[in-house]
Amino acid sequence: MDKLIIRGDRKLSGEVLISGSKNSALPIMAATLLTEERCVITNVPSLSDVHTMIKLLESLGKKIIFEQGRLIIDTVDSKKHVAHYKLVRTMRASFCVLGPLLGRLGKAKVSLPGGCVIGVRPVDLHIKGFMALGAKIKIKQGYCYAEADTLHGGEIFLGGAFGSSVLATGNVMMAAVLAKDRTIIDFAACEPEVVDLAECLNKMGAKITGAGTPRITIDPVKKLKGFTHNVIYDRIEAGTFLAFGIMTRSNITIKNVSPNHLLAVLDLFKTMNQEISSSKDSIKIKKIRNINPVDISTLPFPGFPTDLQAQFMALLCLAKGISVVTEKVYPDRFMHVPELNRMGAHIIRNGEIAIIKGNRVLQGAEVMASDLRASAALVGAGLSAKGKTTIHRIYHLDRGYDKIDMKLKKLGADVERKK
Ligand code: EPZ
Repeated sequence: MDKLIIRGDRKLSGEVLISGSKNSALPIMAATLLTEERCVITNVPSLSDVHTMIKLLESLGKKIIFEQGRLIIDTVDSKKHVAHYKLVRTMRASFCVLGPLLGRLGKAKVSLPGGCVIGVRPVDLHIKGFMALGAKIKIKQGYCYAEADTLHGGEIFLGGAFGSSVLATGNVMMAAVLAKDRTIIDFAACEPEVVDLAECLNKMGAKITGAGTPRITIDPVKKLKGFTHNVIYDRIEAGTFLAFGIMTRSNITIKNVSPNHLLAVLDLFKTMNQEISSSKDSIKIKKIRNINPVDISTLPFPGFPTDLQAQFMALLCLAKGISVVTEKVYPDRFMHVPELNRMGAHIIRNGEIAIIKGNRVLQGAEVMASDLRASAALVGAGLSAKGKTTIHRIYHLDRGYDKIDMKLKKLGADVERKK
């Protein structure tokens, strides 16, 4: 297993080019199951989750070439409809193949995704959506069996105890595009990745309006064709590098980012008294000042994203005072807390709330990555800490960040990947 060695307390400089969004690419890859025609997806990041989805689609009858960020996806067998446990268990987004298979073939057998360290990860909203469209669902021996002679459409409320669901919105949207009648999804997720998926489906011939708002309307069409689609940039990677910049007091520039995908984050930086300027496709850290403590609650888009909670918790260890972070989306998403405390942080967790004592000087240490964004928090802590930090099990990091060590080296960080 690889590990990352970081010698911290160094300023960064220059600009970093953000990659395409993992959380947009994965559902769009699943959407290719809605057609037998050739699909081309560009600006796809080279991540282990993308390679997992490639393997899953190949097991579902696709032939895929992936080079220089471009996926060319053709069909060799359009009748396959079983997604096996061994592939689904490593990546929850695999469950997104159910909607398109159900939509086009009227049947699907997909392994239920296991939980993961950030939480139980239920799929009840996905299933509620499919049943509302007219599918018969059976859960047996860890698999979800879905069947429907025809999907009739309908009005579906997809809000759960934690608000909207990103992948449930995408999954149900993909099942609904070939349904007999109109579908309306209420309390739909508004994330930019949902908008990107809807735009791609419309290029295939779907008739979707309202993506990006809590109410999405899908009017029926008979068939969907192939497409070429350029995936949006990764707002979470962009936010991660902004946190790295502030933590190392560096005036870096983030290129390939839509500021309107990070409004909550930019607003928070203002409250922290940091000077950030943004243009159409870039964000620049202009002036670093002492960091004001802030209170953060993670919320569905356009609220502060849960996928940046860990990285900002590491940042708040350096704030001039006490901050409070409330994790409203995944109340257990605090695997990074004990590791940060081992680096000299002083974070107290109480249920979904964490209290971060600021004015800390972090020290380098040997730490263990546990999930994708917790690992990113440890990278940020390592960059700012005095001394050497070794992060073990960085395969977690490679799931969601494309060559993060190369990008950091280009910014002048002292980072080394070791077998
Ligand atoms: C997507 O996961 C992202 N993954 C996650 O990013 C992200 O954290 C999450 O959205 C929230 O923004 C991908 O897009 C591949 P949800 P998703 O359904 O769709 C509950 C990362 O780090 N819920 O929006 O699976 C759920 O437990 C990953 O890149 C139900 O109760 O998340 C959670 O509390 C991690 N029932 C809340 O909703 C359901 O059927 C939001 O989850 C589905 C979800």
